Amino acid sequence: MSESHSDAGRSGRGILSRRGLFFGAGAALVAAAGGLLYRHLSSTSSVKVESFMTPASGRKKRILVVTGSGRAQGNSDLLAEAFTKGAREAGHTVDIFPAGRDPMRACMHCEGCWSTGRPCVMEDSFERFHPLLEKADMLVFCSPLYWYSVSGHIKCVMDRLYPYSQKKKPYDIPVKEAMLLICGESLFLRSFAGAAESYRQMLGFKGWKDRGRLFVTGVHEYGAMKGHKALASAEEMGRCA
Ligand SMILES: Cc1cc2nc3c(=O)[nH]c(=O)nc-3n(C[C@H](O)[C@H](O)[C@H](O)COP(=O)(O)O)c2cc1C
Repeated sequence: MSESHSDAGRSGRGILSRRGLFFGAGAALVAAAGGLLYRHLSSTSSVKVESFMTPASGRKKRILVVTGSGRAQGNSDLLAEAFTKGAREAGHTVDIFPAGRDPMRACMHCEGCWSTGRPCVMEDSFERFHPLLEKADMLVFCSPLYWYSVSGHIKCVMDRLYPYSQKKKPYDIPVKEAMLLICGESLFLRSFAGAAESYRQMLGFKGWKDRGRLFVTGVHEYGAMKGHKALASAEEMGRCA
């Protein structure tokens, strides 16, 4: 290696230009990653309506909306209210069962279903719930996101469908369709994946048609749903139920 070549290689300018290249590439990478992160956040922090609305059959339905929060007029309650408004305006009959404020226990798997002539042996709010269930064409679960799933109140309602899921049931419920409306603090739609998947599997098992899902990210404080654009989506889902 000649002296001049070696000097040029070690010169300040040579080192600076290599450093410059290195930092330039680093800055470009950071900018690209920032752009990706921004796009990811902005696509997940807005209201997401993951639903398909099959054309309304025109048939007026009896819809049972099950709410799952202990907070009266909380975020999920407001979604349920908007849904109900749309559904009633479209001529459907809507019952609301507030499972968060009239909670039922989880299924005990005692296999006592129907043994007393009633669907379940337990004496709790299920007794107020099942007469509504037994005349509903459509079930709408409206829940806050709790630990990446529906709230425990909604889960208990799902569990208590057990009497209608046995081979030896005297009769089944008339429900043929369902919807899922959930809101949570998380900015990420993936946080709702567990709830969505168990809902999907449940519908597959029951043979119910999925009529729509609404996931609302980024709402936490009491009142955060007031005036939220998700309410228009929920109302539209009710109208198209
Ligand atoms: C016990 C509990 C668990 C929660 N878990 C989650 C969660 O896993 N992910 C999330 O995004 N938000 C979670 N949250 C926040 C609620 O989903 C959020 O505050 C929601 O808007 C409450 O709705 P509500 O006003 O209808 O009760 C949780 C809240 C509570 C009280």
